[in-house]
Amino acid sequence: MRKPTRFWDRVAEGYAKKPVADEAAYQKKLQVTRGYFRPDMEVLEFGCGTGSTAIAHAPYVKHIRATDISAKMIEIAKGKAEAGKVGNVTFEQSSFDELQAPERSYDAVMGHSILHLLESKEDAIAKVHRLLKPGGVFVSSTVCIGDFMRWLRFIAPIGRFFGLMPLVKIFTEEDLVAALTAGGFAIDYRWSPKKGKGLFIVAKKVA
Ligand SMILES: C[S@@+](CC[C@H](N)C(=O)[O-])C[C@H]1O[C@@H](n2cnc3c(N)ncnc32)[C@H](O)[C@@H]1O
Repeated sequence: MRKPTRFWDRVAEGYAKKPVADEAAYQKKLQVTRGYFRPDMEVLEFGCGTGSTAIAHAPYVKHIRATDISAKMIEIAKGKAEAGKVGNVTFEQSSFDELQAPERSYDAVMGHSILHLLESKEDAIAKVHRLLKPGGVFVSSTVCIGDFMRWLRFIAPIGRFFGLMPLVKIFTEEDLVAALTAGGFAIDYRWSPKKGKGLFIVAKKVA
């Protein structure tokens, strides 16, 4: 079993029980995202965790394929969807780099609190770009640790070695915006609720 899977499987139950840190900011992000959604849209979410965001958006699109590397997260997400009788979200265990899909098959891709947990945000952004239809949107919310906790780069490898932390990449908001722009996206909406609370971006694939 790969290490990231082990870490996220272990914390999944606790993650599911944890209340949203800033409910008002979360609701605003849902609202803004829905401004881009249409009822006929095919949506992909990677790193979906226990599925709350995909389930919340389900009534506003045709279908959401929600994926996560952790089988435990996906098990919890499936349980929530079943309990809520949500029929248009398909949960699936897959790491983002192994996820298979035809090019230009999605109208929107979501990746929340995940880009800083991947080996290469540039590779992930390139894959999102390939998967999106022309004019499609990438909606993401990302903690940009480089802006407020650069020192974490000394501690993170130790935490990871002892299995106390996942892989964490340290970059700034401007690094992320630059990577998206270089990856063929135009920033359509940008919002940082508070310092250290993540950068919310809606980026449009430049056709
Ligand atoms: C911080 S949680 C965010 C979950 C959810 N998106 C949210 O906003 O609450 C990060 C999630 O990414 C998943 N993850 C980590 N590495 C991944 C990878 N390489 N591919 C897909 N999912 C991954 C973890 O299992 C975990 O569920």
